Amino acid sequence: MTTISLTINGRPQGPVAIRDDLTMNDFLREVLGMTGTKFGCGAAQCLSCAVIIDEADGTSATMPTCIAPAVSFDGKAIRTVEGHARDGRLTPLQARFIEHFAFQCGYCTPGFLNEGQVLLERLEKAPIARADLERVVAEALDGHLCRCSGYVKYHEAVRAVILADPARYLA
Ligand code: FES
Ligand code: FES
Repeated sequence: MTTISLTINGRPQGPVAIRDDLTMNDFLREVLGMTGTKFGCGAAQCLSCAVIIDEADGTSATMPTCIAPAVSFDGKAIRTVEGHARDGRLTPLQARFIEHFAFQCGYCTPGFLNEGQVLLERLEKAPIARADLERVVAEALDGHLCRCSGYVKYHEAVRAVILADPARYLA
């Protein structure tokens, strides 16, 4: 057993003693009851289980949780799908996912949402040329698998958020 503490969606969690072989996915879903993070392939291949890791230097990246031990998240700050909406208000990205009918079963949606949010925050710091938009969005979402084939609509939804606020995201 190892005792860990971390920050999830801005709130401290722990210290809590967990088995060393407990995955982060099981920690979120089974220990904390945060079932928004899904479990798909269980082999770090589909990214439906990805959460956002916020680094101390202000950068963020997604990371799959299905095979990562929860103890490796000790001291980290992460965000999950439950942390996006505030006071019942959806983020622009969540709203566009709905408007574009980007998902069907929704199983892959938390991973796409987290990845899209990381991209938006990155573009706020480093805007891109309009001509690069399709490529940059496609590269950012690459690796996220959707069994309902929602790829095109996910890409459209992310691009729509960016195009709706060009002063923020485009150079
Ligand atoms: S469930 Fe983690 S990558 Fe598929
Ligand atoms: S919406 Fe069903 S897996 Fe993507």
